[in-house]
Amino acid sequence: MFKSSTQEVPATGAVPRHVAIIMDGNGRWAKQRLLPRVAGHRKGVETVRAIVRASIARGVEYLTLFAFSSENWRRPADEVSILMDLFLRALEQEVAKLHDNEVRFKVIGDDSLFPARIRELIAAGEALTAHNAGLTLTVAANYGGRRDITQAAQRYFADHPEAAHGPPLASDAFDRYLAMSYAPEPDLFIRTGGEQRISNFLLWQLAYTEFYFTDLLWPDFDAAALDAAFASYRSRERRFGRTSEQVRSAQNA
Ligand code: IPE
Ligand code: IPE
Ligand code: MG
Repeated sequence: MFKSSTQEVPATGAVPRHVAIIMDGNGRWAKQRLLPRVAGHRKGVETVRAIVRASIARGVEYLTLFAFSSENWRRPADEVSILMDLFLRALEQEVAKLHDNEVRFKVIGDDSLFPARIRELIAAGEALTAHNAGLTLTVAANYGGRRDITQAAQRYFADHPEAAHGPPLASDAFDRYLAMSYAPEPDLFIRTGGEQRISNFLLWQLAYTEFYFTDLLWPDFDAAALDAAFASYRSRERRFGRTSEQVRSAQNA
C-alpha cells in the first residue's frame, strides 16, 4: 500500500518512479500524411514498444498508458473496431516479450464491453506476469477517471456500511478501492498531441503529479522526447503544499 500524496510527502528522485501518458495525436499524424487514421494507430503501437523499452532502461518502475477512454466509444464504429483489433494483436504478440523482460502487465478499465478473446488475453497476460519484478506496465483501456472514483466509493461503502453515517472517510482508506491501488501516484504526467487537458484520465491520482505537455504527436514521440520530459521533470521543485525553504532544508537534512 502506498501513502497518498495528500497524507504524506512522497520520496522523489531524478527519474520519475511512475510515469502516466496520454498517447494522443495518432489521427492527426496519419492525416498529415494523407493516410487513414488506422495508420496512425499502427505507428502508435510501435511508439508504445519504444517507450516501454526506454522506460525500462531509465529505471522507471511504473508506466501507465491511456489507450482507450470510456468516451472513445463515441468514435465511428469502424474506428472503434480497428482499435479493438490492434489491441487484440498487440496482446497476442507482445505479452510473451513483456514477460521475457520481467514486465508486470496490468489493464485497468471496464473490460466487460470488450470481445471475449481480448478479455481472455488480458486475464492470461496479467496472470503470466503477475510475479515479475521489473517495470509495471498498466494499459488503461475503456478507463474513465470518474467511473473509477464512483466505483471505488460504491465498493468502499459496500465493505463499510456503517461509514455512510460515520466520520468523513480517510483518503488513504479509500485509495485502495481505486483501480490502480497497486501503484504509487504518478510523478510525471505526459500528454502528446498538443492538447492540454486530462480527458478523464487518472483524476484522483494526479493530485500532485507534475504535468508535461508536448506538441509532438504520439507516433513521433521517442526516447529522446521522453528524456526531454524527464529533464523538465528534474527542473521542477515539488512542494506538496510546503514552502520552497522547507523543501530545501528537508533535502539538506
Ligand atoms: C490517440 O490518438 C489514440 C486514441 C485516443 C485511441 P487519436 O486517435 O485521439 O488522435 P487525434 O487526437 O485524433 O490526432
Ligand atoms: C484521450 O485522447 C484518450 C486516449 C489517448 C486514449 P482523446 O483524443 O480521446 O481526447 P480528447 O477527446 O481530445 O479530449
Ligand atoms: Mg485525440
